[in-house]
Amino acid sequence: MRIDLLYFSSTGNTRLLAEHAREWLGGRGIHAELHEAVTTEPAAIVGGLLIVLYPVWGSDMPGPLQDVLDRLKPTSGNAKIALIGNCGIFTGDTGIHRRRILRRRGWEVVYVDHVMMPVNINIPGFNLWPVPGPAERDGIIAAGRRKLERIMSGILAGERRFSGRGPLDRLGGWSQRAFYEPALQLWRESFAVDAGRCVRCGFCARLCPTGNITVDEAGVRFGGDCLVCTRCYNLCPEDAVLIGPASRDTGRYKRYKGPGDGRRPQLYR
Ligand SMILES: Cc1cc2nc3c(=O)[nH]c(=O)nc-3n(C[C@H](O)[C@H](O)[C@H](O)COP(=O)(O)O)c2cc1C
Ligand code: SF4
Ligand code: SF4
Repeated sequence: MRIDLLYFSSTGNTRLLAEHAREWLGGRGIHAELHEAVTTEPAAIVGGLLIVLYPVWGSDMPGPLQDVLDRLKPTSGNAKIALIGNCGIFTGDTGIHRRRILRRRGWEVVYVDHVMMPVNINIPGFNLWPVPGPAERDGIIAAGRRKLERIMSGILAGERRFSGRGPLDRLGGWSQRAFYEPALQLWRESFAVDAGRCVRCGFCARLCPTGNITVDEAGVRFGGDCLVCTRCYNLCPEDAVLIGPASRDTGRYKRYKGPGDGRRPQLYR
């Protein structure tokens, strides 16, 4: 049996879960192929079951995953999909929302659930939930891994679970998606670099999933193709990337440096 694991991860939480799922499946004699959404080709996904692991973004799935799923035809042998979200605060009906879209396109969605992981977004206008310190972060991740194992066991046992169908989940998800697009536009326009902090190492440009960042003698420039994934903001080693001038205050707007297990983030260039 082969399972394909498709994921996108900004700051490493989803990558950690996807790798953990692969190891967990491997320990049960099941071959699992890992596919990172930005770098994979849909043709590489050929297994009997596709498991999509995603961070919740404004009660939806990140664009790079939506793009792969849009290009992937259910007739290519992957008619069954399980959706495993992870979120820092509230997932709402994210998986159910995507399930509706996938079913219309001919997929059989067999499982929808999510796990809690550390919050990786703390920016002006979206900072009610602080980024956890190391001890809290490790506790959240340990619980997240355990829940992932329970989900994987359920999927393998052929159970069906569709979490996020309650009225509050739907209302929360719907209202968040409504506010999210306008907020994204505001955030996109607020990106800047603190020239006093930036050492022009180019790391942000190598991290950016859309190639939206240029670093040269003139400094750092952002193009018009930002997903607001917060990779550059969170992972700049100098905390030089700002989303609004207030985010210069790194005590108040703390960056999330990843799951803290020494994993390097995926580099794109
Ligand atoms: C742009 C963006 C939007 C987010 N929106 C939500 C959200 O609506 N609800 C939530 O609970 N967490 C939200 N988060 C937090 C992430 O889902 C969470 O921290 C996740 O574990 C990050 O995974 P990653 O490190 O693989 O990117 C958001 C994060 C980002 C960067
Ligand atoms: S990663 Fe940070 S320090 Fe390095 S070039 Fe980008 S903004 Fe400057
Ligand atoms: S510019 Fe920064 S936030 Fe925008 S897509 Fe690139 S890495 Fe993500």
